[in-house]
Amino acid sequence: MTGIDTETLLDHLLEHNWVVLKKALPQDTLTALREEALALWQSGDFRSARVGRSGENLKSEIRNDRIHWLDEENLSDVQQRYLDFLNDIKDLLNRELFMGIASFEGHYAVYPEGSFYKAHLDRFQDADERVMSCILYLNKDWQHDFGGQLRLHLDEQMLDVEPEAGTIVLFYSDKVLHEVLPANQERLSLTGWFRRRSLRDLY
Ligand code: OGA
Ligand code: MN
Repeated sequence: MTGIDTETLLDHLLEHNWVVLKKALPQDTLTALREEALALWQSGDFRSARVGRSGENLKSEIRNDRIHWLDEENLSDVQQRYLDFLNDIKDLLNRELFMGIASFEGHYAVYPEGSFYKAHLDRFQDADERVMSCILYLNKDWQHDFGGQLRLHLDEQMLDVEPEAGTIVLFYSDKVLHEVLPANQERLSLTGWFRRRSLRDLY
């Protein structure tokens, strides 16, 4: 897999439940994703993010980012390239960690100035499909004092990840409590989840 040390990725995930990959994605793909996100944002093609499985709850005191879902039936060229890249990660996780990932869902997210997402898990109580969260950041030259760090609440410590372009974070959706600290600059990402078939469908 280009740009990724697969053994380190697997070891780190197994030991810590999360891993950060830097500069794993080809630069031209990264740039094109960033430009696409900005173009969609400027054309107003985003909506308020919601909380909960069926997305019925607009809770701006919990999160106030804006999102644009990728449509798997209608992917742009660059979205397809990114999903091809993720497909290699999916194969690795299935082969080595038996994760049983069957699909991916994802959205662009924009955190306008002042936005945040309070601490949460990505697996909902009534839905067990999400197994691995995967976030790609799209912010060129992000400065620490812009805020907007992804904060992972780990057993032994807290870990803050800068949302710098090209950084990818993977973590177990049901295990790692995390939040987005208030961003005082517009913050872009492509957030997604590797999903398995629901265990509820097996019984
Ligand atoms: C989410 C989320 C984190 C980030 O969308 O569920 O936690 O850093 N995003 O954007
Ligand atoms: Mn989350």
